Amino acid sequence: MYNAESYVGKHKTELDTPALLIDLDIMESNIQKMANYFRTVNAELRPHVKTHKTPIISHKQIAAGAIGVTCAKLGEAEAIVHSGIRDVLIANQIVSEHKIARLVNLAKHSDIMVAVDNKENVHAISEAAAAKGVTIRILVEVNIGMDRCGVNPGKETLELAQDICISPNLKFEGLMGYEGHTVANPNRLERETTTLSDMQKLIETKHLLEKNGINVSIMSGGGTGTFDITGSIPEMTEVQAGSYVFMDSTYGKVEGVGENFGCALSVLATVVSRPEKHRIIVDTGLKVLTKEFGIPQPIGIQGLEMVSLSEEHGKLQLTNGDISLKPSDRLEILPTHCCTNVNLHDRYFGIRNEIVESVWEITARGRSQ
Ligand SMILES: Cc1ncc(COP(=O)(O)O)c(C=O)c1O
Repeated sequence: MYNAESYVGKHKTELDTPALLIDLDIMESNIQKMANYFRTVNAELRPHVKTHKTPIISHKQIAAGAIGVTCAKLGEAEAIVHSGIRDVLIANQIVSEHKIARLVNLAKHSDIMVAVDNKENVHAISEAAAAKGVTIRILVEVNIGMDRCGVNPGKETLELAQDICISPNLKFEGLMGYEGHTVANPNRLERETTTLSDMQKLIETKHLLEKNGINVSIMSGGGTGTFDITGSIPEMTEVQAGSYVFMDSTYGKVEGVGENFGCALSVLATVVSRPEKHRIIVDTGLKVLTKEFGIPQPIGIQGLEMVSLSEEHGKLQLTNGDISLKPSDRLEILPTHCCTNVNLHDRYFGIRNEIVESVWEITARGRSQ
């Protein structure tokens, strides 16, 4: 039987591969830097669980100053609440009967808050909450330009908020607007201009609600790429950044983000074959690496490029010079998208000074329901 814990205390290159590694010093520094920033502004940090999907990391973020967590899925929220965290936002729509039943059950053990963008859903949650005798905290998701979920800013949002305010067992808390269409734009000026102009739609909507006698306590949005743009808007009360905890090569190239946070995540690979001098094959394929943001590349090796991934193989090519890699040698690969990459693995190996310090189960891995 494979016993992951037996590697604690060993050098990272002794790990069986493929293995997902966290550089603990870098992760802790990222958590601290983000927490320090949020001590300087009005908004608070509510880090996104979707990146790490692991309660111990949420607890570290909260210990550093975060007010609670954001989740993408009910299954993530359940894992986090079971670990003892109460203040949880599901920044997503929970719509089917069975899921709403799970939501109101979770409210017995947490101060769960959920996003809505349509009246039918408001009524369904209200009825289920009343039957269970709980109150569900609600944010209206407003479409500020991403064109994913969300009602239109202005009158449509006002009407939905009014409906929530008169629905039994619901507490209207405020508005959420996620600027996902610009959050990873590498150009700082473009990102800032789009974010500030789109967030203005959320702010004007807040003012409209207040003019109509509705108190807007929470204004939530933001991601890693806009932590200090959305985070510095006085009207915003919460930022949902997630990727900053690990980073990846995509966010590493985003101006103003890559300079601030280090890449903590890597996938340890073993060379399984070198059929030709220029072709090196490793044991990390599509089942342990994601590539929707591009093919991940080896860390710290010049002249070597990963050119393709099949299910269980990664193909590397020498681009210049020579490299002394041979079968059974190890190398580390930097993910291009930390959030989806994590979801392919069962556990992290926490590394400090090259030694395995901890093994953490990725509890909410695959909890997409
Ligand atoms: C609703 C929501 N909030 C925040 C984020 C921010 O995530 P990140 O920090 O990875 O940019 C995301 C990313 O997908 C999201 O969907």
